[in-house]
Amino acid sequence: MEYKIGSIAGDGIGPEIVREARKIIDRIAEKYGHKIKYEDILLGGASIDATGVPLTEEAVAQAKSCNCVLMGSIGGDTSTSPWYRLAPNLRPEAGLLGIRKALNLFANLRPAVLYDELASACPLKEEIIGDGFDMLIMRELTGGLYFGERRTVEENGKKTAVDTLTYSEDEIRRIAVKAFDIAGKRRRKVTSVDKANVLDSSRLWRQVVEEVAKDYPDIALEHMLVDNCAMQLVRDPGQFDVILTENMFGDILSDEASMVTGSIGMLASASLNDTKFGLYEPSHGSAPDIAGQNKANPIATILSAAMMLRFSLDLDKEADDIERAVKETLASGYRTGDILSDGCQLVGCSEMGSLIAERI
Ligand code: IPM
Ligand code: MG
Repeated sequence: MEYKIGSIAGDGIGPEIVREARKIIDRIAEKYGHKIKYEDILLGGASIDATGVPLTEEAVAQAKSCNCVLMGSIGGDTSTSPWYRLAPNLRPEAGLLGIRKALNLFANLRPAVLYDELASACPLKEEIIGDGFDMLIMRELTGGLYFGERRTVEENGKKTAVDTLTYSEDEIRRIAVKAFDIAGKRRRKVTSVDKANVLDSSRLWRQVVEEVAKDYPDIALEHMLVDNCAMQLVRDPGQFDVILTENMFGDILSDEASMVTGSIGMLASASLNDTKFGLYEPSHGSAPDIAGQNKANPIATILSAAMMLRFSLDLDKEADDIERAVKETLASGYRTGDILSDGCQLVGCSEMGSLIAERI
C-alpha cells in the first residue's frame, strides 16, 4: 500500500528522535512492501524561526493532506530561548494547541506501562509495583481550561488574570465514548477523574460519563477525584486500566503516570479525531538540554510510530513487529542514558534506532 505521513521534527531533540522513527518506518516499508511518502511540516519553534509564527495555515493544510502525522517535540528552554520573549499566542506551545484544535484531535491516548526489562528504573517500592501496571490515560485535548477565553486586566495598578474552564455535553460524550470503546479491548474498567466536589464542569462531566456508561454494561465505571487520583497513582498504580479525564487534569496526571513507570523516554501517545487520522508523538518533551548530542531516547517516538501504523493505517502486523523489535533490543541489554542500569550497554540515539531497525 501507499501512505503519506506528515513528519513534524519540531524542536530540541525532536529532529533526532523523528529521524530514528523514520528509519524504523522505512525498514518496515521495505520488509512489507509499502510505499511511504513523507511530508515535512513545520511546527513550534522551528516554524517561528522560518515563518514568524508557530503554526501556519499551510502546515494545517499539509497535515490534512496526510493519512497521519508523526511528531517529535516542540518548545525550548523557557528561561533562555528567544521564543519565550514573544507574546504567549506566538510561542511554540500555541502551535501545538493550534494544530490539535485545527485537526479536531480531541482524544489523547497516553499509555503508561511498566516494562519488565526496565522494572528496576521504576521509582516505586517493590511491594507497590506488585505485578506491574499497564494503564491508558484518555485525556480530553481540545476543550477545558487550555482553550477557554483568557485575559489579564489591570485596575488601579493591580493585575487580575482570568482563564475559563468550559465543557459542553457533546465534548464530554465523544471522549467518554472513546474511553469506553478502548476499555472494551483492554481490562474493561474506566476510572473517570474529575473535581466534582468543587467544579460545575466536573459535575456535568460525571453526569454525562454515567449516561454513556449505560451503553457499556460490561465495563466497570468508577469516579475518582483528581487529588485522590494523583495519590492513588503512586500508592497503587495497578488498580487502573483506562483513566478518563479532562484536559488539564490529564496533562498533569499523564506526566505523573509516566514518571512512575521510570521510563518516560519509552512512552508513546496518540491524538485522534473522529476519523482514522491521528497525530502521534512521544509523551515526553523537547529536552533542550540534551538536544543535538545524540543522547535522546528515540523509543517513545518509535513506539508512537507503531501506534500510528496500528490506529491510522490498520497495519497491526507491522506495529507488532516494531514493538517486538524494541523489546528484543532492550532484552539484549542496550540502553540510552535515561534508562541505563548496571550491566547494560549505553548507546546513543542513532545507535538505538539502528539496533531496533536491525531486528525488524
Ligand atoms: C503535553 C504538553 C502540552 C500540553 C504543552 C506543550 C502545550 O505539556 O502535550 O502534555 O499541555 O498539552
Ligand atoms: Mg504535558
